[in-house]
Amino acid sequence: MSVIMEKEALDVKKIRAGFPELLRSVNAYPLVYLDNAATGLKPSAVIERMRAFDMLEYATVRRGSYKIGEEATEQFELARADVARFINANPGEVVFTSGATQSINLVASSWGRKFLKEGDEVLVSAMEHHANIVPWQMVCAETGAKLRVIPVDDTGELVMDEYARLLGPRTKIVAVTHVSNVLGTVNPVRDITAMAHGEGARVLIDGAQAIPHMKVDVRGIDCDFYVFSSHKLYGPTGLGVLYGKADVLESMPPYVTGGDMIERVTFEKTTFRKAPARFEAGTPPVTQVIGLGEAVRYIQRVGLGRIEEYERELLEYGERTLSAIPGIRFIGTAPGKASIISFTLGDIHPHDIVTALDHHGVAVRGGHHCAQPLMDRFGVPATVRASFAFYNTFADIATLAEGLREVVEVFS
Ligand code: ALA
Repeated sequence: MSVIMEKEALDVKKIRAGFPELLRSVNAYPLVYLDNAATGLKPSAVIERMRAFDMLEYATVRRGSYKIGEEATEQFELARADVARFINANPGEVVFTSGATQSINLVASSWGRKFLKEGDEVLVSAMEHHANIVPWQMVCAETGAKLRVIPVDDTGELVMDEYARLLGPRTKIVAVTHVSNVLGTVNPVRDITAMAHGEGARVLIDGAQAIPHMKVDVRGIDCDFYVFSSHKLYGPTGLGVLYGKADVLESMPPYVTGGDMIERVTFEKTTFRKAPARFEAGTPPVTQVIGLGEAVRYIQRVGLGRIEEYERELLEYGERTLSAIPGIRFIGTAPGKASIISFTLGDIHPHDIVTALDHHGVAVRGGHHCAQPLMDRFGVPATVRASFAFYNTFADIATLAEGLREVVEVFS
């Protein structure tokens, strides 16, 4: 039955009716939301589940032995189990953080400070978001390890021969994105991981841009860490996930301390609980975790296979339609990319384009997208980025194209 469901086309009209924000207008035009790589809108299912939880079920978790505390804890751990199943992990390997950025900072600080030393190397790629560069830079500065960079070719693909050349016995960890937030490139994370493991290096995959678009199987990838944010998966903000292989998490010291991540505290010495609790200091974002659990269940009901297929159609239509705009230059043309289109338009500043489109209710992002080294690689200060979700339509893209044609006329 589920196989048959996966093959059915998406009922986009019905899906859109479940996202209340899509019904609003902006500057007297219907909202055309094309900034999904920045954050996803929330379906009613997620909003309503969090509201119901806050109205009648809310309590702190893992502390109170009273009924509502126990029930909230049960819901919280059910959400963890659902998230774990969603990425093919065990619940004990899923740590809740405040976002993908904090997940990477946690690994860089905890794992990095313990395992990196002078002469070691950390490999990142030229297409990383700042969140997957700066934490490594900081821990390298502290430990004496060296940051090295896998280059990107003109289409926006990693140069795998260079990666192979950079890998060696000094490499202790490879930290790369699964999908580029600027280019949409989908990196060969299984090969990247296998090659790194061949040299005894650990692997962290930044999945923030992959998780809404494709089935992620952390065991299949075999990476040591996989991170993502809830809000890009149509869940609430302020919550992220760090997947870590059980033995790797167990080898790591705490990152933030306090709360019930401890086992026993005396003024002389403190011992800590096992992962994931060891990395969840303080009162966790209880309602947000319940919301992410619902978001995961929602996405599974829609079907990631169908989402992938439909978003591929949107991307093809977008590339075809936008390529007819005079002066457009696509940044990122790798085959098999995710539904993200970055571009420049002659000499028109991306911020002017974003403002002009906003006047027509079209929301896209302009700027360096927190990936300044990648902008340098392509010799541009900024791009305009349109990123599609499964609730977008071909008409949304036609409206974007129409807006861009107007921009070209006004600015030429
Ligand atoms: N990383 C997010 C983006 O690319 C914030 O917009």
